[in-house]
Amino acid sequence: MNILVTGGAGYIGSHTCVALLHAGHAVTVIDNLCNSRAEVLDRVQALGGRTLRFVQGDIRDRDALARAFEDGIDAVIHFAALKAVGESCAQPLRYFDNNIGGTIALMQAMEAAGAQQLVFSSSATVYGQPDRVPVKEDAPLRVTNPYGRTKLVMEQLIGDWCAANPQASAVLLRYFNPVGAHPSGLIGEDPRGEPNNLMPYIVQVASGQRPQLRIFGNDYPTVDGTGVRDYLHVVDLADAHVKALDYANAHTGCETLNLGTGKPCSVLELVHAFEQATGQPIPHEIVARRPGDVAEYWADPARANALLGWTAQRDLTQMCADAWHWWSQGGGLAKNNKEQDS
Ligand code: NAD
Ligand code: WQD
Repeated sequence: MNILVTGGAGYIGSHTCVALLHAGHAVTVIDNLCNSRAEVLDRVQALGGRTLRFVQGDIRDRDALARAFEDGIDAVIHFAALKAVGESCAQPLRYFDNNIGGTIALMQAMEAAGAQQLVFSSSATVYGQPDRVPVKEDAPLRVTNPYGRTKLVMEQLIGDWCAANPQASAVLLRYFNPVGAHPSGLIGEDPRGEPNNLMPYIVQVASGQRPQLRIFGNDYPTVDGTGVRDYLHVVDLADAHVKALDYANAHTGCETLNLGTGKPCSVLELVHAFEQATGQPIPHEIVARRPGDVAEYWADPARANALLGWTAQRDLTQMCADAWHWWSQGGGLAKNNKEQDS
């Protein structure tokens, strides 16, 4: 199929493009590079063994979108969004405009082009603090910040669009905590400035860029008092998108699926797994809880298993080893960031 990938130069998008090229799809990427670099796409093409088409532009720019659709697009995988929770609290309108405005423009362009299939990056953040774990797709939705609100609204808009178009098909994928990198070390997560998320922070402590990890609270009602999440290898996540595309191609209507391993992991467990997988010590101290954090959640991925035939294959050791391999050898992109940030 001809697939349009919005945000394809980003962390999850780049790994998904490699998987799509391997699966034999023709890929067009549209990305405004607000949180990524064009060099990533050279690496994607090297890893995928084939070329892709790149339109540098914003999904809110109708001309850029029209260029992206001009070769005939069968299906869209929609990653392009701003994703920093704290920033979304400070700049909610920017998040509403980019994420929700961008999604509306994208659906309009799909309709104009006759593209009927959409795979969408949602997030487990839509569940907020769940009543019970593991979390199933029918759990109550309780967004706690503007970023999460954009994900929930986008899910609803896509559902309405599907309901109005009997031929349309959408798969809403609620990711838990994606981590790790491509095993080649050529692509991975490349956060600008101080990372917000745990794994990139651990990796930067291991490399000596940051003196120690601050663990946000050890008084949660969890296995060891630290926050518990469901960490998922980004290559497994990428594979789920290829399967979701196949599903969308064979069905109509709107489906919502959790993507996680279904295995809980505390902050301290991840730190120890990283130390064991890489041999790098991670000095850490316990500090106050981070405002807005939930104690624990992990996925029930049974629905994704059943509908897509997908199960996460890679364990914590592999997630840690690949994250470290990327950072210690693929640091070229990261170094550029450091220079830019300083
Ligand atoms: P990322 O920032 O690495 O990738 C997003 C890409 O979209 C970037 O390349 C950015 O330049 C591009 N982009 C943003 N706004 C755009 C616009 N208006 N027009 C064109 N391009 C635009 O983020 P990621 O971690 O790869 O996340 C991808 C998607 O997955 C996002 O929608 C995010 O909300 C969602 N998600 C991520 C996580 C996570 O922990 N990484 C978890 C759950 C959901
Ligand atoms: C994981 C655990 C922290 C950093 C966020 C977004 C969510 C989704 C994924 C997009 C928690 C602890 C972290 C550190 C720490 N993104 N931690 N020290 O908060 O589960 O989810 O990313 O949709 O919307 O909120 O992930 O990696 O930030 O935190 O102790 O320096 O690590 O308290 O328990 P989170 P995270």
